[in-house]
Amino acid sequence: MLQNIINQAIDEISKTVNLAALEDMRINYFGKNGFIALEMRKMASLDDEAKKVFGKEINEAKTQITNAIDTQYKILKTQHIKQRLQSEKLDLSLPARKIKSGSIHPITQAMQELLEIFIRLGFEMKEGPSIEDDWHNFTALNIPDHHPARQMHDTFYLNGNNRLLRTHTSPVQIRSMISGKPPFRFVAPGRVYRYESDMTHTPMFHQIEVLMIDRDINMGHLKYFITEFITQFFERDDIEVRLRPSFFPFTEPSAEVDIRMKNSEKWLEVLGCGMVHPNVLTNVNVGKEYRGFAIGMGVERFAMLKYGIEDLRQMFEGDKRWLDHYSFSGFDIPSFAGGLTR
Ligand code: DAH
Repeated sequence: MLQNIINQAIDEISKTVNLAALEDMRINYFGKNGFIALEMRKMASLDDEAKKVFGKEINEAKTQITNAIDTQYKILKTQHIKQRLQSEKLDLSLPARKIKSGSIHPITQAMQELLEIFIRLGFEMKEGPSIEDDWHNFTALNIPDHHPARQMHDTFYLNGNNRLLRTHTSPVQIRSMISGKPPFRFVAPGRVYRYESDMTHTPMFHQIEVLMIDRDINMGHLKYFITEFITQFFERDDIEVRLRPSFFPFTEPSAEVDIRMKNSEKWLEVLGCGMVHPNVLTNVNVGKEYRGFAIGMGVERFAMLKYGIEDLRQMFEGDKRWLDHYSFSGFDIPSFAGGLTR
């Protein structure tokens, strides 16, 4: 009697067409109210001998039906995988899309390298606004009214005479000293703007300002830091550094720094510097017991010297071929200041 049902079950199971139908089948036979469970309940009313016989039969039924389900499961599962492989087929012969990778502009690269050196020498980083006022950009820096830098041909003025695009990063000295307390030891990178454009000048370029103010700073310290960063930046120790007397309103004494390779005739001017003028320190309320040095340098100049770039203006043309040639991998950039220069 039971064997008939088993045969019928095996037949039904072998006819299921998908895994869901097979699962329904399993529940029919092995579920809480399934066939096997119902049969088991009959056991209670049997005597010991009959129980033995019936128990055996049920076990046999379980084994046969389970085997049938397992067998059908394997068949359906294989079918299912085949169908998926068919429907989700990938054409691996299609050429892959080309990966377009961006690159780091030589100005950014040089800027990051320069900053990295100063950061390692213990300098903090400061930034200031591109739009400045007359006082921060000129007056506080001891640049008198009649100074040529104030004239229209140098400065981009906005809405009248008080708002302007900063012509150098030196106003960051002023902002940082006013809002802080000495000693100071920072670098301030940024864009600067001047109303001029020719072979060697662009209306926007980049500077880094360095300031160190403490009780006993002298020109020896200044020369030490300059020599140190130049040696590190150009990655060679056969570079000579020379300080030549010069003039800037915000430093006294002031110097221009020239460098040359040992044995080379030609000196190249690379930056301006000096001891911060007492008037500047007074303007930002730094006490007379403090003194220090300032340095201002053009980033483009350093990039051109290090990477052998000859034409300044190409830096800003965005020519893909030029960039492919001169730019750097994002992996080469010093890591301390990711995203620093925008
Ligand atoms: N601010 C000057 C300029 O843009 C550069 C400069 C010279 C900055 C000497 C300094 C300095 O801090 O000491 O022409």
